[in-house]
Amino acid sequence: MDLFQLARSCTKNVIENRNDDFLIASHMDADGISSCAIVSKALERAGIEHSFKCVKINDIPRIEPFENMIFCDIGSGQQNTIRRYFPDSRITIIDHHQFTESLYDCHFNPFLAGVDGGDEISGSGMAYYFAKALDGSNTDLAPLAIVGAVGDMQNIWGSLKGANRSILEDGISNGSVAASPDLRLYGRFTRPIYKALQYFSDPPVPGVTGNESNCIALLSSLGIPLRNEDWRTPSDLSFEEKQVLGTELIRRILSELPGDFVHLAPKLVFGESYTLEGEEPYSPLRDATEFSTCLNAAGRNGAPDIGVEVAKGNRGIYFDKLMSLLKTHRRKLARGIGLIESRGIEKMDNLQYFDGTGISDTLVGTVAGLLLGSEGIDPYTPIIGYTPTDDRNIKVSLRCSKLLIGRKINMGKILREVSEQYGGEGGGHACACGAFVPHENITPFLEDVSRRIGEATG
Ligand code: C5P
Ligand code: C5P
Ligand code: ZN
Repeated sequence: MDLFQLARSCTKNVIENRNDDFLIASHMDADGISSCAIVSKALERAGIEHSFKCVKINDIPRIEPFENMIFCDIGSGQQNTIRRYFPDSRITIIDHHQFTESLYDCHFNPFLAGVDGGDEISGSGMAYYFAKALDGSNTDLAPLAIVGAVGDMQNIWGSLKGANRSILEDGISNGSVAASPDLRLYGRFTRPIYKALQYFSDPPVPGVTGNESNCIALLSSLGIPLRNEDWRTPSDLSFEEKQVLGTELIRRILSELPGDFVHLAPKLVFGESYTLEGEEPYSPLRDATEFSTCLNAAGRNGAPDIGVEVAKGNRGIYFDKLMSLLKTHRRKLARGIGLIESRGIEKMDNLQYFDGTGISDTLVGTVAGLLLGSEGIDPYTPIIGYTPTDDRNIKVSLRCSKLLIGRKINMGKILREVSEQYGGEGGGHACACGAFVPHENITPFLEDVSRRIGEATG
């Protein structure tokens, strides 16, 4: 069965039981929030009343049971938990994560259709297929599927592929999304170009990353004006200006890059950007990556519902609230970075780490990622931040340069295996992943992770 046929067969619980009490239970990250918005929109349009709730994976047992439950971006790996806590509910699972066994009829997962849920489709992409199977006119929700896919870093080498590409084509043909060759600068519509340059950090650009005055000087020397009436953003650059700037960035990167990374450098500088054509010019929702950051800010600061509302197209007070969450998010991240800069970062052979006590377990990973791009920190050694999450466990978050994937390092796999060895659990992406580890085991855990990285790099 192909993905669309599978989607059709998994709409049964919805179509046949439209008068049930429905709950959409989704993950609280950017992909989960987008998934939730897509399914909620589709049910709303079908005239099906429902509630929604976005949760952390560990909180699934605490969800209030509903007659009819649709899990999004979570569930495939938690089927036993779902069976145990919601034995009397009709269950639909719309997810893209790996699983060992399929226990439900309405289990919509790309691996069942031979599609790789790792980088070809996200939870939101699956939600999009599901919505499209419910009603062909739901293709206007394609932009949200793109937001979820980039939120899950499925464009890690610069562009979306596989089923994500088909969704993108739906969006392009109905005019809701544009894809263009671009520089991979964060803040396409919201940051002055020199600021976007200053924050570019994977890989670090000698003399540019973290240095505002050098960024301004570089742009001037390349003949790229900084202002029109207002600061120019990366989206204001002409194609030629992007070519000139990107070429210069690559030249500088190569001057310091370890040899085996050289062929990957262009893919980190040039890539495709995705524009949501229905959003206002210069809005933080107009670029798919920036949109996903806003949803992340909502989810990671305890207000995923605000993200769902905005993703569903509801603005006004929801948009204002989302912008204030984004500010809070940035303030907390800045405070976290300050805390670790004063506390210091420890080094092992193949790992650097910091005690992030005081930073919340939902933010410690983002802090780790931002530290990796800052001055005085080795950008090519993976970094772990950890913080207590409950009486039993410490939450560990790891971030590393995308370039390490070029050395065939999969940190998600390493964290999963090592945490299990110490009575915890973990996983995630090759270069952004996390784990829970019992308090007493944190030191041997870190030592083993460092050793495993050493073995993987040879
Ligand atoms: O850990 P994660 O990949 O989710 O980190 C993304 C976060 O870092 C976002 O919340 C965003 O605010 C911030 N960010 C940024 N500038 C960048 C990259 C990320 O402000 N260039
Ligand atoms: O929480 P953090 O931002 O560090 O998570 C990074 C990635 O690792 C996410 O994709 C998350 O789902 C995954 N993760 C996991 N198992 C954990 C913790 C995080 O798979 N115990
Ligand atoms: Zn996902």
